Amino acid sequence: MYKKRGDYVHFNEKAYNVLENYLLHQVDSIKNIFILIDDITYTHCLPILFQKIDFLKKSNLIQIKSGEKEKNIDTCIQICKSLEKFKATRKSLILNLGGGVITDIGGFVASIFKRGIRFINIPTTLLGMVDAAIGYKTGVNLDSIKNEIGSFYIPEFLIIDTHFLKTLPNEEIFSGMAEMLKHGLIADKNFWKQMNQIQKNIIQDENQWTHLIQKSILIKQKIVDQDPKEKGLRKILNFGHTIGHALESYFMNINKILHGVAVTMGMIYESWISYKINGLSISDYKEIKYALSTLCPINKISDLEFQKLLLIMEHDKKNEKNKIQFSLLKEIGKCSYNCSVPYPLIKESFLN
Ligand SMILES: NC(=O)c1ccc[n+]([C@@H]2O[C@H](COP(=O)([O-])OP(=O)(O)OC[C@H]3O[C@@H](n4cnc5c(N)ncnc54)[C@H](O)[C@@H]3O)[C@@H](O)[C@H]2O)c1
Ligand SMILES: [Zn+2]
Repeated sequence: MYKKRGDYVHFNEKAYNVLENYLLHQVDSIKNIFILIDDITYTHCLPILFQKIDFLKKSNLIQIKSGEKEKNIDTCIQICKSLEKFKATRKSLILNLGGGVITDIGGFVASIFKRGIRFINIPTTLLGMVDAAIGYKTGVNLDSIKNEIGSFYIPEFLIIDTHFLKTLPNEEIFSGMAEMLKHGLIADKNFWKQMNQIQKNIIQDENQWTHLIQKSILIKQKIVDQDPKEKGLRKILNFGHTIGHALESYFMNINKILHGVAVTMGMIYESWISYKINGLSISDYKEIKYALSTLCPINKISDLEFQKLLLIMEHDKKNEKNKIQFSLLKEIGKCSYNCSVPYPLIKESFLN
């Protein structure tokens, strides 16, 4: 059974009470708790968690290197070996403390280890809080193919603590804001306007963060609740991602590109396609392009790069009947899915 909206996301101080109660009442032995971290969340986030719940210091730590490159099946095998070494059982629990890479890997390992153990997501990046940790998708990359191996698997619940954002670099904040803006673009015009007003000033006020993150999660969760396994409607969450994922895969081996940056570029190009074939008005297109290009600079794509990107897009899991499928905007706040787009138009979108 999928959990309904709001039931499983807990915020700030209250969230730690929920976690502490859960750990005291549901888990047989504290030794059976595993905390998955990367080298950065070990430094910045683990002390905060320990400060909130002291007895977690007795749990087993599994640490991996930070970064998208680690999101592969070899890392999962290493984690499974660590679980084995520390005598994890089917009753063990994994706490994923980190960004989208940690929650994707940790959720996937939880779904396969001994055919499934429990896990809790504690996302520590903005992108993790509003997107990666929400919606039950877990997984890893296969070489440069994004999220090719994975599962749908449900966490016990989620802890959102905006304190973690204090150590997050600005570029990572912008990366998460891109997904929040996407939520506005596909489903909630008011939220898009609200996000647009604040996007140039990084928010300092924690209450404001909590409010916006909460709203963004609700938008995603409402879509996921209607179509958890992505048979239809959920595909609108892929707006900006057909081109965005191709850019991410392509640049992964050349130089690092943030998921949010790739998606921001993808949203600009896919808005152009939306304008050409899906009824998006020119004024909406211009508003989107202006807002998003303020958020991140757009790289020019060469002809050769385009051919390579096209090859990657052809591998996209969302494709059907040998056609590249896009989710395209009808207007700000409304999105269609399963839209086939001819290759020349994809290329044209890169030139605008
Ligand atoms: N499962 C899904 O539905 C879904 C949705 C969107 C994105 N994703 C995946 O999420 C990943 C991207 O997530 P991300 O942007 O969080 O990347 P990330 O996990 O690599 O985190 C970004 C960087 O920030 C560091 N970091 C984490 N928390 C920090 C903190 N509080 N302070 C300082 N540094 C911190 C990390 O160590 C890392 O270096 C991609 O792999 C993407 O495919 C998954
Ligand atoms: Zn994304």
